[in-house]
Amino acid sequence: MNLDTIQRLESNIRGYVRSFPTVFDTAQGAWQTDVNGRRYLDFFAGAGTLNYGHNNPRVKNAILKYIERDGVMHGLDTATRAKTELLEAIDEILFRPRGLNYRVQFTGPTGTNAVEAAVKLARKCKQRSHIVAFTNAYHGHSMGSLALTGNQYYHDLSYGSHNNVTHLPFDGYLGDYDTSLILERMLNDSSSGLPTPAAVILETVQGEGGIRVASTAWLQRIASICKQHDVLLIVDDIQATDRQHL
Ligand SMILES: Cc1ncc(COP(=O)(O)O)c(C=O)c1O
Repeated sequence: MNLDTIQRLESNIRGYVRSFPTVFDTAQGAWQTDVNGRRYLDFFAGAGTLNYGHNNPRVKNAILKYIERDGVMHGLDTATRAKTELLEAIDEILFRPRGLNYRVQFTGPTGTNAVEAAVKLARKCKQRSHIVAFTNAYHGHSMGSLALTGNQYYHDLSYGSHNNVTHLPFDGYLGDYDTSLILERMLNDSSSGLPTPAAVILETVQGEGGIRVASTAWLQRIASICKQHDVLLIVDDIQATDRQHL
């Protein structure tokens, strides 16, 4: 078995297959094995989504048990035992210890779905269309998220535009200069050309943009500027799992 089938039958839009020219078969922990039995140490880990490893025994056993007892496989947005238990766990582990009075919105299973949902909610809630994003930001590949993404690679005319989005310098973009001052100044000046946005969106650690870590002080200033101007702050931590460890 080789890549001929992929070349012949899969659309040319495929991406990572061009960087990993083999057919993977099984995986366990940090290792993947291809169809020829060659083993690869997997530093990619599903772009950071497999932090417990491939087929982690606890995850695997839970999935097997769920299927074994005929747990609901597809429930649209009906109530299921699985969803109820997940909500209880989120409330118990995340919300209550932090005193957060939040609700959960289940989006599709991709990062870009979450970004689209957050931006849509912010626009609806604030009744404003503009969004501020940052240089080198990456927020996904659907149309709304692409508009927030900085990299020109994704912005030839066939990919769409930056409509209703202004990009401002991320932390460190101008060396030691505190770039939060630019956001503050522009929001305070009704002639700056920047409409009051519905939201500011940022990654606390930019991943695709080159592993750039925003300082805690900068993040706190951006949060406080947003608060002062009644602007929502959307934190896209889809790729950055745990900034405490950086
Ligand atoms: C910060 C950030 N936001 C959104 C996305 C989009 O996630 P997905 O590819 O699952 O749509 C990514 C993907 O790398 C990301 O790094």
